[in-house]
Amino acid sequence: MDSIEVIPVNLGDRSYEIFVGTNILKDIGEAIQKKCGQRKILIVTDQDVASFWLNTVAESLKRTKLDFEVACVPSGESSKSFYQLESLLDQFFEAQLARDGLILALGGGVVGDLAGFAAAIALRGIDFIQVPTTLLAQVDSSVGGKTGINTSRGKNLVGSFYQPRLVIIDTGVLDSLPKRQLLAGYAEIVKYGLIKNKPFFEWLEVNGQNVISGDPKARQIAIVESCKTKAMIVGQDEREAGERALLNFGHTFGHAFEAEARYNGQLLHGEAVALGIVAAMNLSKTMGFFNGQEVDRVTRHFKTVGLPINLNFIDKFSKWNVDDLIDHMRHDKKVLKGKMRFILLREIGNSFITSDIMPENVAEILSKSIGGKL
Ligand code: GLY
Repeated sequence: MDSIEVIPVNLGDRSYEIFVGTNILKDIGEAIQKKCGQRKILIVTDQDVASFWLNTVAESLKRTKLDFEVACVPSGESSKSFYQLESLLDQFFEAQLARDGLILALGGGVVGDLAGFAAAIALRGIDFIQVPTTLLAQVDSSVGGKTGINTSRGKNLVGSFYQPRLVIIDTGVLDSLPKRQLLAGYAEIVKYGLIKNKPFFEWLEVNGQNVISGDPKARQIAIVESCKTKAMIVGQDEREAGERALLNFGHTFGHAFEAEARYNGQLLHGEAVALGIVAAMNLSKTMGFFNGQEVDRVTRHFKTVGLPINLNFIDKFSKWNVDDLIDHMRHDKKVLKGKMRFILLREIGNSFITSDIMPENVAEILSKSIGGKL
């Protein structure tokens, strides 16, 4: 492989490594062989990703004589379903993979979550490898072992914590991503700076544009720093009993926005998170924890790179209703004992979890976001 950076995720006997490098996908076979030995592999991917990257992966596996089959699901959130899960498991058994089989998730968050959950339950658990192809999956969903599918009652309601054996991040694949997708992933990168890593946020203020425009060095640094921050948090709290919940900064608001947008592709997860971060910072300010100048500073960075800050960035959303959004928040799976939970900031890099929130303050922030006033 070309030069790669290796980040450990320390979880005792479930520890693994994240490889980050540019154009390393072409040598993926060697990496798998070295880490996992000679296994039969089921590659799980989606139609869009397959058209870009399946050949590169397949050629490398053939060269290293790794036997594989391919399961391709439709692109999009609707593939995180019981139907696709069952169909995937069928293909797994059809391909005659056994306990020593390996699932390779090649794609964005949908493929990673679905394939990871299939790996968690096939034969009571087989090894899997994450090969994320979106910026969002590279810096967030492929690391930390959250896997699952959606039900008619909500997102990610069925799943498990199940760690991969290896995560392989090729920053070169990002060149094929639409700018909007890249920006959405970038919101999760900024999140790490805001919750835990002020020097990283300061670095992003200077270098964020280069990360988005495709500078390979800047991308590598941003992805490595994000994965290191996430690996540290997951290493301390794998099952989200405490600290890991900080990773949900912006998500209480963001999930409500996604639910109201009906997950139909109009609002990307990362965009919802960006809007949620701006809302959560303003809530932190209203509650007297966070300085208004710091809110302006972060909001300025969002504007500079092209991230949305108000719901009215899409015309239709400016007609949304505050009560409907609060209703989604009350039904979020992270609601604890009937109380909504928020991650707030004391300063950049210093976040905390609280349920001690006045609903009228939340309503006021939502109303401002709808009206374009944040
Ligand atoms: N994406 C949040 C987490 O992995 O905990």
